[in-house]
Amino acid sequence: MKALILVGGVGSRLRPITHTSAKQLIPVANIPVLSYVLNSIKEAGISEVGMVVGATATEIRAAVGDGAQFGLNVTYLQQDAPRGLADAVLISRDFLGDDDFVMYLGDNYVVDGIVDFVEDFRRDKAAAQVMLARVDDPRRFGVAELDVDGRVTAVVEKPQDPRSDLAIVGVYAFSPLVHEAVAGIKPSWRDELEITDAVQWLVDQGHRVGSTVIDRYWKDIAGVDDVLEMNRHVLETVEGRVDGEVDEASELVGRVVVEAGAKVTGSRIVGPAVIGPDTVVQDSYVGPFTSIDGNCRITHSEIQYSIVLRGASIEGVARVEDSVIGRETEVNAAPRTSTAHRLVLGDHSRVRVGC
Ligand code: TTP
Repeated sequence: MKALILVGGVGSRLRPITHTSAKQLIPVANIPVLSYVLNSIKEAGISEVGMVVGATATEIRAAVGDGAQFGLNVTYLQQDAPRGLADAVLISRDFLGDDDFVMYLGDNYVVDGIVDFVEDFRRDKAAAQVMLARVDDPRRFGVAELDVDGRVTAVVEKPQDPRSDLAIVGVYAFSPLVHEAVAGIKPSWRDELEITDAVQWLVDQGHRVGSTVIDRYWKDIAGVDDVLEMNRHVLETVEGRVDGEVDEASELVGRVVVEAGAKVTGSRIVGPAVIGPDTVVQDSYVGPFTSIDGNCRITHSEIQYSIVLRGASIEGVARVEDSVIGRETEVNAAPRTSTAHRLVLGDHSRVRVGC
């Protein structure tokens, strides 16, 4: 069995972070989202991985390489434009050969991995298997309808009038029959080859499509709120550890990770929180659910429920909250006498200022 991981796409809902960085490489608890995906695939006993890349191919290659660091063998498959999830299968035809495969969207995260899902697929020997989860608002998702045996009878993309609350999570398993399906469908109204159409094609041809309904946490990283929520969930599972330096004037409360080379002085850190390697936290407060990556500087500031990417600095800022701060970004306080805000922001930035 092989795996196909999809990291093409443009990540428009995570701009401006995705102007300079692939969304699948955004760190959550200081580990890129894609690393959780790769670890899950390894854990499911799969080692041959096809990585469907788009405009961010160079950055993905730099982070994942040949996959050896994850115990995987990664082959890169270039998609010329984000033409849909089924198009990713189409262009991977030679790599996939006649093997069964798991297709995992590289911006999805499923707590406790996919081992049970892969076992279900192997046992049922269905043409395809979809991972499903109950959601409050199915209209935002691809939705599956099941018969009493859990067999899929229909899949509908973002239905106005949903007939089930079972959303399709971004993990699928396919037999080689899917190649007939992706060749048999036409692009949708948004001009993409939809994987839901391919699954529906299999159902319509009388093939068995199985399902695994999970009741654990999963997240599809679309926007900033999703990244912050995933960060919160992953930090809940982190064990405290101090490999860096924490001076006597500082206090660590709860589960706090201080990586090697980090220096915490005169500060209070309330976990769960992670402080990356070679980061300086000085005379500051770091509150719960905060991940600060390596080589950052947080001085005379307060921050909580936020993610700070590599090399950023925050100096003299009273309170940063609910925020994602990009790489090498500088956030400084204006002089007290100033009534104006001086802003140097990239395209598609979002800033909220107190008035
Ligand atoms: P999406 O979240 O559907 O698309 P996106 O990443 O471009 O984000 P946005 O909608 O905010 O612009 O993609 C899901 C995953 O599949 C993501 O990891 C990108 C990948 N993908 C491909 O590899 N090829 C494609 O043609 C598409 C549409 C997505």
